[in-house]
Amino acid sequence: MDNFVFSNPTKIVFGTGVEMQAGTEVKPFSDRVLLHFGGGSAVRSGLLSRIRESLVATGIHCVELGGVEPNPRLSLVREGIALCRREKLSFILALGGGSVIDSAKAIAVGVPYAGDVWDFFDYSTQPATALPVGAVLTIPAAGSESSSRSVISNTEMQLKRSVTTDLIRPRFALMNPELTYTLPPFQSACGIADIMSHVMERYFTNTRDVELTDRLCEAALRTVIVSAPSVMCDPCCYAARAEIMWTGSIAHNDLLNTGREGDWASHAIGHELSAFYDAIHGAGLAVIFPAWMKFVYRHDLARFAQFANRVWEVEMDHFNPEKTALEGIRRMELFFHSLGLPATLSDMGIPDDRFAEIATKCTVRGKGTTGKFVKLDPKAVIAILTLAK
Ligand code: NZQ
Ligand code: ZN
Repeated sequence: MDNFVFSNPTKIVFGTGVEMQAGTEVKPFSDRVLLHFGGGSAVRSGLLSRIRESLVATGIHCVELGGVEPNPRLSLVREGIALCRREKLSFILALGGGSVIDSAKAIAVGVPYAGDVWDFFDYSTQPATALPVGAVLTIPAAGSESSSRSVISNTEMQLKRSVTTDLIRPRFALMNPELTYTLPPFQSACGIADIMSHVMERYFTNTRDVELTDRLCEAALRTVIVSAPSVMCDPCCYAARAEIMWTGSIAHNDLLNTGREGDWASHAIGHELSAFYDAIHGAGLAVIFPAWMKFVYRHDLARFAQFANRVWEVEMDHFNPEKTALEGIRRMELFFHSLGLPATLSDMGIPDDRFAEIATKCTVRGKGTTGKFVKLDPKAVIAILTLAK
């Protein structure tokens, strides 16, 4: 096990009705707030007006900015920064999923910065300070509600890039599983694929002696696998929605990578698919992860056989661990398929004519590699994309 520091101070308030605590949670930070939300689900469900009510009841002045799109845009982030400055807002409350929360985080680092906020995303500089952010989560997926990351799309440059700093970890996350009842089945499925990917990016590691975190990862995966069918059959199943929602945070709050190195190549490739084709994050991962696995499994057959056995309940064939490993990958593909997720890039409408460009972009302009479990050069990335097509 590697040395590590684990600190995740996001306060989680979980359960029915917790969104009505928005006012009391925000109040210690500010009484002038930007209420940030997406394309309409929060308006349609009545959540936005309930939150507004809770803020106003606590004497908080709020200004609203909706319209965050999946793969959140830099242009709206810039608009949010200008709005916060003009209205002297000093807290950002995000109402939504990863896209809204990431947009809120980007605004938070942009407001106190004299330059352009994209400087943080192209790694020219690191944020020195940020406005505080809070989240009311409506879709379990990205884990942004307690992560230190914001991922933003720059459509002009066809880039999707992230900034990582503890300054943007939400101060609190209000998590009511009932708020996820209105999710369309496909969005629930994409969220599930993303949650599982966050665990698997951590699970496939070269670090030795990590039994506890292996077992925690396996428990997180099993919980999602067992709960997913209930959510797909009955969108209002509180028990299953609650399991998935909490697993979504645990999957990405850094606990599962304590003392071990993660991989993250599938995410890097997935982000390029979003940058080029506006691909939905979780759907892209459902296609790329199995292809990545088929490309790298021989690197550590024992780990892949363990994954198959403990996560997918494949009987261990000690004489033929490769067979066990491949059956695990196959069961994962079947599982994604059962949720209605795409199996190939062509299912997603993604053609095969820009693989070289994608590979160059996610390997430091073709001069480096991506991933840690197996370091992938551009040729390897093209091979994975070819397996996924
Ligand atoms: O915009 P609205 O109308 O709200 O609709 C959204 C959106 O279309 C809808 N939705 C959300 N909650 C709903 C709902 N519809 C009905 N009922 C509800 N309760 O779902 C759609 C997707 O929302 P989005 O926020 O895009 O989903 P997700 O949480 O999957 O976020 C994806 C983004 O997070 C980034 C991804 O790259 C992607 O841009 N990630 C952020 C990470 C982080 N900050 O740590 C890590 C992740 O790996 C990921 O990269
Ligand atoms: Zn993700």
